Formats: sequence, C-alpha cells, structure tokens
Amino acid sequence: MSKIGSALKKVLKFKEAEIEKIGVSRDPEKEKKSKFFSEMSEECNECLVTLLDPRSPVAEQYRSLKTHLMGEAETRLISTFLVTSTIRGEGKTTTACNLGVTLANNPQHSVLIIDGDMRIPSVHKMFGIKYEKGLIEYLRGEADLDSLLVPTHLDNLFVLPAGEPCSNPSELLASPRMRDLIKNEEAKGKGHYLIIDSPPIISTTDSRILSGYVGGVILVVQSRKTPIDIINHGLSLLKNAQILGVVLNNISGISPYYSYIYSYAYGYAEYSK
Ligand SMILES: Nc1ncnc2c1ncn2[C@@H]1O[C@H](COP(=O)(O)OP(=O)(O)OP(=O)(O)O)[C@@H](O)[C@H]1O
Ligand SMILES: [Mg+2]
Repeated sequence: MSKIGSALKKVLKFKEAEIEKIGVSRDPEKEKKSKFFSEMSEECNECLVTLLDPRSPVAEQYRSLKTHLMGEAETRLISTFLVTSTIRGEGKTTTACNLGVTLANNPQHSVLIIDGDMRIPSVHKMFGIKYEKGLIEYLRGEADLDSLLVPTHLDNLFVLPAGEPCSNPSELLASPRMRDLIKNEEAKGKGHYLIIDSPPIISTTDSRILSGYVGGVILVVQSRKTPIDIINHGLSLLKNAQILGVVLNNISGISPYYSYIYSYAYGYAEYSK
C-alpha cells in the first residue's frame, strides 16, 4: 500500500472512531460505501495524484492542464476527448485518469472515463477497481451501459472498464455501437465529459478509429523519449482528428511520482480538420 493510501486509511479510521465516540447513529448504506472507498483508496495507483494528494503541486499542474484544455474545448463546444500517444508508456492512462478526477472535482460536472485500450487495459488499476465486464461486452450487445459503469471515489465520476480480453478490438471499436456510445455521451449536454484512454497511434488502428468519433484528441508525449519524427508520423496518422493539445509528460526527466511537470501546446492546426 502507498504511503498516501495508508494515510487515507488512517483518516477514515479516525473518522469512524469519532463517530462512535459521539454516538451518531450509523447508516448501513453509507458504511458500505465508505468501506468500498477505503478499500479502493488502498488499491489506487500512486499516479492518481489528483485524488490521493489533491493539494500537491502535481495536482495543481493537472488543474492548470484542465483549465487550458477546457477553455479550448468550450470555445469549440467539445465534451468528448481521446487521450493517446504515438508509442506505449508515454503517460496516456495517467493523464486520462487525473484529468477525469480534476474535471469531476467540480460538482456541476459529470465525467465518464472509458478504457478504450482493450489490448492492455489499465484504467481499472488506476482506480483500484476489480471488474470483469466493460466496453467489450457493451459493444457486443451483451450488457446495458448502466450495468457496466463502475462508481469511483467521486459521486460524479464513473469508469467503464475495458472488459474481458478479446481478439478483435479494432473491429469492435469501428462498430456503429461505439460511435453511438460517444454521440450519446455528447448529447448529455453541458457539464458532462467523456474521456477515452486508448492504445498508441502507431501500433494499432484503434486510436485512429476513435479519434474520428470524439470531439478532440489530447496527445501525450513523453519528454526525451519519443523522437520527433515518430511524433510527426503519429500526428500525420491522425489527420482527420481535431488535436486539442499536447501534454508534454515528465519533462523533468525525474522518475519519482511527485516530480511530474506537465506542459501543453496548441497550434497543431495543420493536422486538424
Ligand atoms: N510524469 C511521470 N513521471 C514519472 N512516471 C510516470 C509519469 N507519467 C507516467 N508515469 C509512469 O509511467 C508508466 C506509464 O504510464 P501510463 O500507464 O500512464 O502510460 P500509458 O501511455 O498509458 O502506457 P501504455 O501505452 O502501456 O498504456 C507508469 O508506470 C506510470 O506510473
Ligand atoms: Mg495506458
């Protein structure tokens, strides 16, 4: 368990003890929920810093990223986002999940994070979620969306995990059901946001397919890792997408979790529609 995870657990235990002391009557539903979240906090990935340590400078960087991206999104009336990168391991899932939490910190917002990386799903790991079914089962028509949505620590943030491994992710993602799912989320109106985590652009067609369905694409680039010609190649493959911004991840080059520095840049109009 992370240090932050155990600190959160201590706080929860302290709160429970205080309730016992002052003799407040217990609500079984609330207790169940609190137990669920306290177990989840232990399991949360340390990278989910916006939830585990919202006052940290890193979380502040995410808030600043959100402000810039949302400003751009509001101007262009965009509420559905794809988070992708050119190659693996650049920080897509970390960015998607922290951005989701940051958006959901506004109680007037509701947020859905979809794990669109059916090949190596990991959104569930970020939130400490144990699940079996998700997007794959939805796209196959085997389950309703509502039955697959997993609640998180925040009342207004839900996760749709990837689902059981399957042999044809690109085919499923290219189906009209996927396009309709995104359209339905879009139709939920002002204050509702959809964030889709995805595999890298170069290795599969999955992100390219999804980039045509969403309002905007956020490209994550790991500083000093991805060669510029690879980034340019990746961007050229997204030529039909609206690139909203580029997140330059880990520009400090220092590994520990609390050393992230994020940056963003706009002006990729030549790659946009
Ligand atoms: N800024 C950062 N500083 C240090 N470590 C980071 C940073 N961002 C992400 N990581 C770590 O790098 C690894 C990859 O991050 P993440 O899973 O978010 O990338 P990804 O692009 O989603 O990877 P994949 O392509 O495999 O899905 C993880 O172990 C994560 O903890
Ligand atoms: Mg990932």
